[in-house]
Amino acid sequence: MNSNIQLRPDIEGRVEIEQLINAFYSRVRADDVLGFIFDDVAGTDWGTHLPKMYAFWETVLFRSGGYTGSPLAAHAKLVQLTQMGRPQFDRWLMLFCGTVDDLFNGPHAEHIKNCASDMANVIQSRINHVPDPRFDPANLTPEQRERYARYRPASAGLGGLEPPDFI
Ligand code: HEM
Repeated sequence: MNSNIQLRPDIEGRVEIEQLINAFYSRVRADDVLGFIFDDVAGTDWGTHLPKMYAFWETVLFRSGGYTGSPLAAHAKLVQLTQMGRPQFDRWLMLFCGTVDDLFNGPHAEHIKNCASDMANVIQSRINHVPDPRFDPANLTPEQRERYARYRPASAGLGGLEPPDFI
């Protein structure tokens, strides 16, 4: 781990994204909780998956990666085959944010961690049909509950809440 914040650059574009994604998935593949999901359950072709993930994160961060896939569908398929609950998503986030922090520092580094956390909440809640913890009524103030209820009728599936169109 590079503990000197001053020496760590921010994520400025494709070069840093590829560095981050390569380092992150090296950790994922070596991880007891997550590695087998890619290599054994999904049979991931890394030569395809890594470039797709460069494009995904470049699109999220800079709107220039050209990603046009379907993250929800990709993960929904896995629910039938293996555990894809909160513990797995927490592990994924720990590895992702840890890799960001080891390599980068700055506004884009903070932003990509926040995006990852938001998307983990959306994907996890949607594929398992549980409330997004950020919008769980138990965690909301009365004002938030009232405001979110106006987004969509409660009959729309998620108590009136839908993830952003991108996901
Ligand atoms: C428990 C946590 C997770 C696991 C085990 C997991 C696993 C996987 C697997 C196995 C694939 C398919 C790879 C292949 O093509 O073989 C995939 C695709 C993908 N994952 Fe995840 N993932 C997790 C969390 C996330 C999160 C939190 C994000 C976003 C922040 C994400 C973004 C994506 C994207 C963009 C794809 C490509 C979908 C497409 O085909 O267009 N994943 N993931």
